[in-house]
Amino acid sequence: MKANIVLLPGDGIGVEVVAETRATLDAVAAQFGHSFSYSEHLIGGCAIDATGTALTQETLDACRAADAVLLGAVGGPKWDNPSASVRPEQGLLALRQGLGLYANLRPIRLFPELIQASPLKAERLADVDILVVRELTGGLYFGKPRLREEVNGRRRAVDTLEYTDEEIQRVVELAFRLAASRRRLVTSVDKANVLESSRLWRTVATEVAARHPEIRIEHQLVDSCAMRLITSAAAFDVIVTENMFGDILTDEAAVLAGSLGLCPSASLGDGTRGVYEPIHGSAPDIAGKGLANPIGTILSAAMLLRHSLRLDKEAAVLERAVAQAIAGGARTADLGGKLSTQGMGEAVRAKLAG
Ligand code: NAI
Ligand code: MG
Repeated sequence: MKANIVLLPGDGIGVEVVAETRATLDAVAAQFGHSFSYSEHLIGGCAIDATGTALTQETLDACRAADAVLLGAVGGPKWDNPSASVRPEQGLLALRQGLGLYANLRPIRLFPELIQASPLKAERLADVDILVVRELTGGLYFGKPRLREEVNGRRRAVDTLEYTDEEIQRVVELAFRLAASRRRLVTSVDKANVLESSRLWRTVATEVAARHPEIRIEHQLVDSCAMRLITSAAAFDVIVTENMFGDILTDEAAVLAGSLGLCPSASLGDGTRGVYEPIHGSAPDIAGKGLANPIGTILSAAMLLRHSLRLDKEAAVLERAVAQAIAGGARTADLGGKLSTQGMGEAVRAKLAG
């Protein structure tokens, strides 16, 4: 098949990990007789430097016309001035909103050879295979009113957690569809003992579950979910939750995997188009040195193959190549090894055909 992929390397190590992932996608294309064409655009700090804005209309239009978008990372100390009116992260928010991407998927899987890199005991980590689906465009991060004011010398600030039934329904529905090809358990996470928006979330999730009798649903309060992720993570299959709860739980769950550099993500909406990116940032401390682990981005590309291009077999082959490279001892510095970014990419590509 032919596919048109937009690359948004962004800042810092984003540039290095995206370059290595492109080479790996080319190897997959060659092996299976596909033709991927790429166009590269600016996002984040580098876009601010060049254009004054973190995401130009031209970049957004290119992403809208593409089959999928592969993103590196944005940000860095150069753009960290808190009083600046344009910030690199605005590019990510504008991209998600502009493409209507309301669900963020973060799979948490452990490589058996790397279990000692995790802060948890090995026996707590056996068989961990979780997919967290975080609502991405609603909830506390977007609700109105949102304000800060000073009245008679007292300062006051307001954020609002708001959801419509439609916003809840579409993301929970997606979680159920994803669970169908996994272990068929959806854990819907809320704070229904306190929050009205969570009571609506639970009601709508229960309605969605009724349409999927082959999949089990359990409801869990977010605080006890946070505990269970540490004590019995292997019990989870798909977790679906509100924007801020998901932000916090995904970072907690990522720690289980041992290194930030290993974890992929996908942001999806109604169509097949999505944005795929590693969960880490631009890592200014190691940028430009060829030290970054490209695995999180390469596994994001596997998600791209599966969700946007419907190339399930190719995705599985790429994921297996990553697992085999790690089983064979390939390690970047974050995993205690000596391989460069390129060396790790080559180790994966060497396992592709094999
Ligand atoms: P970070 O994820 O960039 O780095 C945290 C630590 O993990 C650093 O020590 C870094 O060297 C290491 N690390 C991260 N990715 C790695 C990889 N692939 N291989 C090896 N080591 C890796 O988070 P930090 O330092 O908090 O943020 C740096 C910049 O990135 C900030 O400007 C922040 O705003 C931005 N950021 C951007 C994100 C995005 O684009 N989605 C997400 C998180 C942070
Ligand atoms: Mg976060």
